[in-house]
Amino acid sequence: MDAETHIQLKAALTATQNWWQDMGVDIPPIPAATPRQNKQAAPRPQAKPPAPAHVQPEEVKLSEKIEVATALAKSAPTLEALQAALEKFDAEVLSDHAKNMVFARGNPKAEIMAIGEAPGLHEDETGKPFIGPAGQLLDKMFAAIGRNEENLYITNVCNWRPPAGRNPSEDELALCAPFITRHIELIAPKYIVIVGGVSLQALTGKTGIMKARGQWQELDIGDHKIPAMPLYHPAFLLRRPELKKYAWRDLLAIKERVEGE
Ligand code: URA
Repeated sequence: MDAETHIQLKAALTATQNWWQDMGVDIPPIPAATPRQNKQAAPRPQAKPPAPAHVQPEEVKLSEKIEVATALAKSAPTLEALQAALEKFDAEVLSDHAKNMVFARGNPKAEIMAIGEAPGLHEDETGKPFIGPAGQLLDKMFAAIGRNEENLYITNVCNWRPPAGRNPSEDELALCAPFITRHIELIAPKYIVIVGGVSLQALTGKTGIMKARGQWQELDIGDHKIPAMPLYHPAFLLRRPELKKYAWRDLLAIKERVEGE
């Protein structure tokens, strides 16, 4: 298959996968591409003892990377330090392909933290989350309950735009997880809004935003339990405007709880 056909097929697969995911169908993420083995290539000298037979080398590599990410994230005492750590972090395919690491926008002292999926094209260009068409709808949704950049903090579970705008893979989300955990610890919000199915899975391990939306969850972050409301992703609502009424219901539930407590 030539390279162009391969790219077209992958884009079609990604679009179908995004659609199914939006519809609440549980599907495995597209696995991260693994380079083809060149059978002729001489074996590289081994710096470390080989992994036990049942553990794949990629798994070892991923777990080592996650350890590095965890150490980096945990040692960041402030938001600025976390941002600097992320800027330097080698997130492999993610940071290799992205133009910018996308951190956050809004007020770090806000009691609500909205957490989306991964940056898109506009966010990658500018380094700011949720500023494209989906972000503009997200802003309108929050404005309807009196929230804006002064009383809302917005970030994503993944800080880089995955190549071709696909969803982040499970491995990529695992690599980003220590950073979003530390990010939440540093912001210490009273409430979290989980924006979209990918964030739902990354933050709670649950799949199926169609079922979970509107149901308060509880996130265990450090010693704290933080109430979290899953919301339809605005990009999904742009494709399925008839579902906006459910998002509106969920926003009202958030407003009621935040203002009532
Ligand atoms: N979608 C997201 O989930 N996050 C962004 O920042 C932009 C689009």
